[in-house]
Amino acid sequence: MNIVVVNNYDSMSEEVAKMVSAQIKCKPNSVLGLATGSSPLGVYRLLEEYHRSGVDFSQVVTFNLDEYVGLAADHPQSYRYYMEENLFSKVNVKRENSHIPNGTAKDVHEECRRYDELIRHAGGIDLQLLGIGTNAHIGFNEPGTPFGSTTQVVSLAESTIRDNARFFASPDEVPTQAISMGIKSIMHAKNIVLMANGGSKAEAIYAAVHGPVTPEVPASVLQLHPSVTIVVDQAAASKL
Ligand code: GLP
Repeated sequence: MNIVVVNNYDSMSEEVAKMVSAQIKCKPNSVLGLATGSSPLGVYRLLEEYHRSGVDFSQVVTFNLDEYVGLAADHPQSYRYYMEENLFSKVNVKRENSHIPNGTAKDVHEECRRYDELIRHAGGIDLQLLGIGTNAHIGFNEPGTPFGSTTQVVSLAESTIRDNARFFASPDEVPTQAISMGIKSIMHAKNIVLMANGGSKAEAIYAAVHGPVTPEVPASVLQLHPSVTIVVDQAAASKL
């Protein structure tokens, strides 16, 4: 694992955005794995700037990690809506190349199989961006998720529902299920960059980097991946 400790959120965002833009410059038809949440917002703002100065997304293919079950694309808290607002509408990525699990699919299990098949068909993910939950989840793979899991329907942990309630009018509105790319699907990515900021992530970062590799700490699986960079601000790195 390559661990980069930076001063603050802005430096974290810059470090990660530079990696994404280098990836696209080296391979214009890169397949990117994308994350949501507050951690990558700064990265997406910078990618919009880099695009204005010439970074071309026209051949880029993207796959998002997850989507809430039951939220349609036009629901303001759906991850499709988030991606449109924060990245897709700001750069020249083609909509037919930007994939997010469909949380309102009639058969969500079939949707999971379709999603893994799409990733395989695209040749796998070149660079996967990850945030981390305070309970060390990656994507929506909560503690206890088997490392062999592929894209699947998952039930959200109580702590995740509490953490994500800040985006909804009340905790009751947070969906209790999501479709998430599995741990195995994430581990198949050629390169992985995990970003975290703030003291609330310090425990999870410590456990992911130095703790035992166990499904109880989903991010600890990254210790087994050959190309992982963890970019953390000083607060998130405070227990390392
Ligand atoms: C959500 C997402 C994760 C994300 C995590 C952290 O639950 N499913 O992909 O990494 O929250 O979010 P934040 O970056 O807002 O702390």
